[in-house]
Amino acid sequence: MTANLATVPTTGIQLSGLTKSFRTPQGPVHAVRGIDVSIAPGETVALLGPNGAGKSTTIDMLLGLLPPDSGTVTVFGMSSADAIRAGAIGGMLQTGGVIQYLSVRELITMVASLYPNPLDVDEVIELTRIGDLADRKTTKLSGGQTQRLRFAIGLVSNPDLLVLDEPTVAMDVESRRDFWATMRTFTSSGKTVVFATHYLDEADAYADRIILMANGRIVADGAATEIKATVGLRTIRATLPRPDLVALSALSALPGVTNVDARGEAVILNCSDSDSALRAFLPAFPAARDIEVTGAGLEEAFMQLTTGQQLTTGQAAGAEEARQ
Ligand SMILES: Nc1ncnc2c1ncn2[C@@H]1O[C@H](COP(=O)(O)OP(=O)(O)OP(=O)(O)O)[C@@H](O)[C@H]1O
Ligand SMILES: [Mg+2]
Repeated sequence: MTANLATVPTTGIQLSGLTKSFRTPQGPVHAVRGIDVSIAPGETVALLGPNGAGKSTTIDMLLGLLPPDSGTVTVFGMSSADAIRAGAIGGMLQTGGVIQYLSVRELITMVASLYPNPLDVDEVIELTRIGDLADRKTTKLSGGQTQRLRFAIGLVSNPDLLVLDEPTVAMDVESRRDFWATMRTFTSSGKTVVFATHYLDEADAYADRIILMANGRIVADGAATEIKATVGLRTIRATLPRPDLVALSALSALPGVTNVDARGEAVILNCSDSDSALRAFLPAFPAARDIEVTGAGLEEAFMQLTTGQQLTTGQAAGAEEARQ
């Protein structure tokens, strides 16, 4: 059976046990330390994480540009190389230039000619809003305009999977908005998108699912709301007269409480379920006053998960290498 690219594929993307290290004069850098991801067709997935988390390395392996040290990549039932040959994957990388001395239209037309089932070049130019630049040489574009051209190049093969490494990094606010509007058009037809980003708001607004990476590992994977819940969606603050160790351990044992912090008489409960926590807290601590419940944002979740990774899981080797 051959892949019918006109229809939405039924099998998705599997990354199984992926690892990748780089040799450097200072010793090995373990960029990706064992990643398992399964993405369903039609999902829009954000790879989120701080600098050096392993996002680009993962994307390069997904695109077949970098061979993994171990593990496998399957894209719609094919290897990355076969999927790319079939025109099933479009990519927009973080680094690398565009071919010089051609006009924008010439370059897009050339790329389109390499694929079996391309989109109409004019349609792509319109979709990516580069009509006014179509006759300009690719060397004469600004950073944000080059990003739009790269997006057009990624789209023109009419891929089922679009992989984007920090697609909006050089774009101004308006271009970012345009970019995501175009992306919505693309995903509404059942296409799959994987994009790396530092922008929490982008991941929150445009992804169905966020895979949070830190130090070469996945530290959270789920909808933005689930990720917020993993780290304590809400915080309860209260004043408690003379909280002793017994009180603190009773607070830790309350349902829905993930962490307890006390500064003098002020206690702070991080909660995965603040409703249950509050219901149990009030009868157990009737002397509590000045009670406040506040929500945590995705930013807080992100910081806690990415910085807490080495501390909470105590990966001595990871912490050691991170110091190098
Ligand atoms: N070719 C390479 N040689 C040596 N080390 C590398 C190479 N490519 C990546 N690394 C290292 O691997 C780790 C992961 O890098 P990667 O580019 O995947 O991170 P990232 O999450 O994309 O970061 P950023 O947000 O800065 O783009 C980093 O420590 C980086 O320095
Ligand atoms: Mg990167």
